[in-house]
Order: sequence, then structure tokens, then C-alpha cells
Amino acid sequence: MQKKIRLGVLFGGQSAEHKVSIQSAQSVIEQLDHNKYDVFPIGIDKKGSWHFLKTAPFLTALKNNLLPTFKKNDPHFPLLVQRVPAQFSPCILKRSLDVLFPVLHGPLGEDGTVQGLAQLANLPYIGPDHLSSAICMDKGMTKTILTSFSLPTPAYKIFHQNDPVDEQALIQALNLPLIVKPLQMGSSIGVSKVHTQQELLPASKKAFKYDARILIEECIDGREIECSVLGNEIPEASLPGEIIPTHALYSYEAKYLDKHGAHFVIPAKLAAQKIKELKGLAIQAFKALRCEGMARVDFFLKKDGTLLINELNTIPGFTSTSLYPKLWEASGTSYSQLIDRLIKLSIERHQRKKRLVQVPCLSAS
Ligand SMILES: Nc1ncnc2c1ncn2[C@@H]1O[C@H](COP(=O)(O)OP(=O)(O)O)[C@@H](O)[C@H]1O
Ligand SMILES: [Mg+2]
Repeated sequence: MQKKIRLGVLFGGQSAEHKVSIQSAQSVIEQLDHNKYDVFPIGIDKKGSWHFLKTAPFLTALKNNLLPTFKKNDPHFPLLVQRVPAQFSPCILKRSLDVLFPVLHGPLGEDGTVQGLAQLANLPYIGPDHLSSAICMDKGMTKTILTSFSLPTPAYKIFHQNDPVDEQALIQALNLPLIVKPLQMGSSIGVSKVHTQQELLPASKKAFKYDARILIEECIDGREIECSVLGNEIPEASLPGEIIPTHALYSYEAKYLDKHGAHFVIPAKLAAQKIKELKGLAIQAFKALRCEGMARVDFFLKKDGTLLINELNTIPGFTSTSLYPKLWEASGTSYSQLIDRLIKLSIERHQRKKRLVQVPCLSAS
């Protein structure tokens, strides 16, 4: 019998998407083939401590809605089998795991930090590498690269908090309304729609609370269409899906707090030619941003039919109702097949990188 792959599922984390990440991890753990994989759930609490958990009590606790904000004085704290010491070493990961699945969304998880750690530990991991993850987490770097590849994206300007802003010139260049957002955030946190010049300063201040740099861009009046991309050197794109928010924006409230904040149309109702164009752009963006493994590419479709790339999410939501797996399901790949593919892709990339010539260390003369 083939040896089972030891899969570490890393979840929780310090971002605003802590809870979503737990739900994603739960779906992953429940739906993967336990004949092929030994699962090791690893929870990161909101303060950043790592907790190695046991699968069965973890899932039972989740079912009973008991876990896991990992508060220290939580009565369920004994569920946490081991607290990782402060002098946590990547070697611990390598010793106990074959593959790592960081099911972490947002800063300190989706932004290259955890990917760098896995790389140091010489451990295959799911999703884009540290460089690509870091670039995609930064809306400014993403835009700069998209633009340099002549890929379409809403017109924008980037400001540092020390930069002077000529509001009138900005409005003249991009027109009202405008969208203001922090460069490195997610979950629509700090995002505002600006209708008048007077609203620009408060919206910028709100965005600067989360990042020293902000993006101000033209507001697109159109549909929000998303596409899942999967693969390493020869990526494939899924059928697209549409998000129809019931709020003015697909805001934090619409995403997580309001049960009726948005609905998904899968697949999106688009002409075959538009779907072809969108899939092509999704793959080009995936490659331009050096993604491997997976990413969800988010678009705006303007009323005149123009497609614009909004952003790439390198660890998209992964609950069984999340768009990334749902779009693959609509394209013929089931949730558990998708996880199998992602694991294979991570091992493939790891082996490919290992084949590269390593430059030996030079000894001091
Ligand atoms: N240029 C834009 N025009 C119109 N709506 C936008 C624009 N940028 C963002 N939005 C709205 O704000 C939401 C969140 O912005 P997004 O750039 O996707 O940030 P996040 O990384 O937080 O998801 C989008 O889903 C969309 O509803
Ligand atoms: Mg988004």
C-alpha cells in the first residue's frame, strides 16, 4: 500500500478572515480522501500562536460551534494539544509533514510570509510562492505588473501618506465617483466609494489606517465576474461566476455579516466569446503575476463589454460554498479532486525547484 501523504492544514490566522479560514479548513479536512492523506490541523490563533490539533476533536468542536478563536481562558482550550514554543523552527514542520496547505486568507498568511516559512522548511506547499503571494497581496504591485503586461485594469493612482494630493487634478484624471482602498488588505476592509471631493479626505484617512499606501481608482459601473485558475506552468481557467452584491459595494458586511449580502450566479451568464476572452485574460494575469497552484482572478465587466482585472486572490475562500471550488465543480472538477490536484501541483513544483542547480557556499579564504 502506498504511504499516506502527511498534509498539514494551516488555518485561523491573524487577519480579519480568521473565521472564514476556519470554515475553509473544516471543508478541506472533511472532504479530502482520508485513505490518501493523514491530516494534521494546525490552528493559528488571533495572537499568532500555533496550535497542533487532533483532527477528530477539532471537527467535533467545530460542529458544536465551540472552537476556535483559541482564547486562552476558553473552556475548550484543552483541545489544543500542543502550544508551539516562541522559538518555533521551520524544522518542526518538515519533520512532521509532507505537504502544507495554508488555508489562510489576508495578511500574515496569503501574503508570502507563511509561504516563505514553508520554503525555508523545504516543504511543498499549496498555492503561489512567496514572491507571487506578496505581489498579489499588494494591490499597487499587482496593478503595476498588470499594466506592464498591457493587461486591462481600472485607471489608478497610488499615494503614500506623506505625498501631497492635488484633489482637483486627481478628480479630473479619474472622474467621480472614485474608489479608495489600502494597498495591502482584503475582505473589503478600508474600501470606500467617494462621490464628492469632500468625501475624498475622510475616505483616504480611513484607508491609511490600514496601510501607509493607498490606491485611488476609477469606479467601474459594471458586473463583478470571477474565474478560478489552477495549474503550474500550464494553468487552466474554470468557467466564470458572477457575484451580485445587494450592497452598494461587495463590502465586508456583504461578504461576511449579511446572509443575503450577495448571491452567486454559476456559471455567469455570458456569451461564449466573452467567456473565452475572460478565461484567456485570467490565465495571462495568473502567469504575469507568477502564480502557481491556484488563484481566483476577479474582474469587472463594463456595460460596453470591456473586461477589467480587479485583483488576484492567491488563497481564495475554500469552504464548500466558496466560489473557487464551486467554479471548478461547475467545470467538472469536484472539491476532493481539486484538493488532490493542488497537492500534486505543490509536490511537482517542489521537485522542479529542487532540480535547479544549487550554488555551493563559498568558504572564506
Ligand atoms: N474600481 C472599482 N470600481 C467599482 N467597485 C469597486 C472597485 N474596486 C473595488 N470595488 C468594490 O469593492 C470591493 C472590494 O474591493 P477589492 O479591490 O476586491 O478589495 P478586497 O481585496 O478587499 O476584496 C469589490 O468587490 C467591489 O465591489
Ligand atoms: Mg476582492
